[in-house]
Amino acid sequence: MRERLRELKDEAWRYIAEADDTGELDKIRVRYLGKKGELTGLLRNMGSLPPAERPEIGKMVNELRGQMEGFLQERFGKLEARELERRLQRETIDIPLPGRKPAIGHKHPLNQVLDEIKTLFIGMGFDVVEGPEVELDYYNFEALNLPPDHPTRDMQDTFFITDDILLRSQTSPVQVRVMEKQNPPVRIIAPGKVYRVDFDATHSPMFHQVEGLLVDDHTTFGDLKGILGAFIEGIFGKGRGIRFRPSFFPFTEPSAEIDVECIMCNGQGCRVCSHSGWLEILGAGMVDPRVLQKVGYDIERYQGFAFGMGVERIAMLKYGIDDIRLLFENDMRFLEQF
Ligand code: DAH
Repeated sequence: MRERLRELKDEAWRYIAEADDTGELDKIRVRYLGKKGELTGLLRNMGSLPPAERPEIGKMVNELRGQMEGFLQERFGKLEARELERRLQRETIDIPLPGRKPAIGHKHPLNQVLDEIKTLFIGMGFDVVEGPEVELDYYNFEALNLPPDHPTRDMQDTFFITDDILLRSQTSPVQVRVMEKQNPPVRIIAPGKVYRVDFDATHSPMFHQVEGLLVDDHTTFGDLKGILGAFIEGIFGKGRGIRFRPSFFPFTEPSAEIDVECIMCNGQGCRVCSHSGWLEILGAGMVDPRVLQKVGYDIERYQGFAFGMGVERIAMLKYGIDDIRLLFENDMRFLEQF
């Protein structure tokens, strides 16, 4: 029996020392000290020993149990500490490591420019209005002093849907729609998409314009110059030369095209400004009294000015983009630069 105990101890001690984690250790504990454990079994079988040996063997078994419990506890403490250590290491957060930023998109450069234009005019008291993209010939042409077969219609190659329905070729028809509904004073801008049969590096079949209209009972060309001067300064910066050049539009009289000193070469002359030193950015003029008359305004009392610009053109000049198609291809490598 003594021999058996010694063997059991050696074997148990080896297992306990080799156990690699607390789970394994617990299995060993159950194996020897559990209800059906080997040591427990020995105690239970005391009855089969000669009565003389019982006290001594009983004492030895109890001693071994005590030692084993002690050894198990010691190993358990060590393994538990090691496991905790490992877990802490695994779960450490590296505080100085920068967090992962979610990729956030941003506004398309065209919308950035459009927002800038709107903000500048809203600041000068203009309301923002919209009109339909599928438009009647009447609003796109006739009410703007462009009767059928008038040669100036050729200035804008138009997508016709039927004889009198078309995709608007300009945002100017919104002027008429607003004036039909509202009496002066009128002070609006009308941003939106327009369509023309045209496609190359500087023309797209769909592009954006912003129309402007101001009608009141004391409106002068000087007001037009003041407002557009402030606008151009807001978009392209202070101190840039501006020039009003006589021009023609059927719905304004007199008409002008407005140029700004080339922002690439500062007026020195370069490829972008065709070596003229100037960039054309706006069409404008005093609203032709015939347009006012058509919507029923009293032309003895009211005058107005109007202007129109292409948003793509302004964006291209502002950012030095030389191909309009880049604005619509949505290539991330291009868009990420803005
Ligand atoms: N609608 C013109 C165009 O598309 C631009 C324009 C010129 C608008 C003069 C105006 C204006 O209101 O007064 O070319």
